[in-house]
Amino acid sequence: MKRIGVFTSGGDAPGMNACIRAVVRTALYYNLEVFGIQRGYSGMIRGTIYKMKSRDVSNIMQLGGTILQSARSEKFRTTIGRKKAFEQLKKFEIEGLVAIGGDGTFSGASVFGDEFPVNIVGVPGTIDNDLFGSDFTLGYDTAVNTAMTCIDNIKDTANSHNRLFFVEVMGRDAGFIALRSGIASGAEAVLIPEERTNIDELIKTLAQNYKRKKSSSIVVVAEGEKMGGAFEIADMVKQKFKHYDMRVTVLGHLQRGGRPSCFDRVLGSRLGMEAVRALRDGKKGVMVGQIHDRIEFTPFSKACKHNQEISSDMMDMVKILS
Ligand code: F6P
Repeated sequence: MKRIGVFTSGGDAPGMNACIRAVVRTALYYNLEVFGIQRGYSGMIRGTIYKMKSRDVSNIMQLGGTILQSARSEKFRTTIGRKKAFEQLKKFEIEGLVAIGGDGTFSGASVFGDEFPVNIVGVPGTIDNDLFGSDFTLGYDTAVNTAMTCIDNIKDTANSHNRLFFVEVMGRDAGFIALRSGIASGAEAVLIPEERTNIDELIKTLAQNYKRKKSSSIVVVAEGEKMGGAFEIADMVKQKFKHYDMRVTVLGHLQRGGRPSCFDRVLGSRLGMEAVRALRDGKKGVMVGQIHDRIEFTPFSKACKHNQEISSDMMDMVKILS
């Protein structure tokens, strides 16, 4: 293999730039030519591909987002789109790819790698932490810290006004961001899609807090929570708990941007380096991850299964410590 490409796809995540830097510099270290593909699969189809040099990735570690930009491509879901993408790769003589993204990226990579002779190694890049095969995905740590800081700020105003706040955090169908940021900010309750929400129980907890003269309460709601988002939950609580002064805050895309944490920079660097090594070793159709500090490879089909488990101990921690 002489030429490889690198791209970021799906939702951007802090730490992607550290990973791009590592891919470029590791490739050059091993005398491979490396090409940056802009805007994920969309750019692959359109041929927005350029050769990268070491200096192209200088001073990017500390930046949020992705210098290669990202996209969710509808065209790549079609056979015609994927054929066009392969033709572009052929034109640039690219034989291997490092795909940095989440489950949508890897599902696409899996089909693409089966249809055409191109070796693809994935790096888990999503704030959601919902991929099997890595303890942590790139961007999760930064996003959780951002959510925690925002909730800290909300607590200041909640305490000043004796209010109950429902704070909605991202995570798509997973509750990892909610659980970790909820524990870190001392939330009274955390509602996640992996566990059935019992509104009566939630109201009981809030009522007890009220009686115990807690000056405020925070309920962290994962956006994928099955009964609805934070607004819906707040409405349900309001119906039975009329006297409480309530507010809802949706953190939204605030959580996706910002300077990557040290953890995400190091993880991105390590996984980027290992992805290039894996391509050199002839690996394909796998995601490189870090499990208990060791590098592990997981087939795309398994990585996307969403069976990364939420720890019930952590859920107990919310109840016991609040
Ligand atoms: O997958 C990352 C993520 O931020 C999810 O947490 C969220 O549900 C989704 O992307 C939002 O996507 P978009 O940026 O397309 O609105």
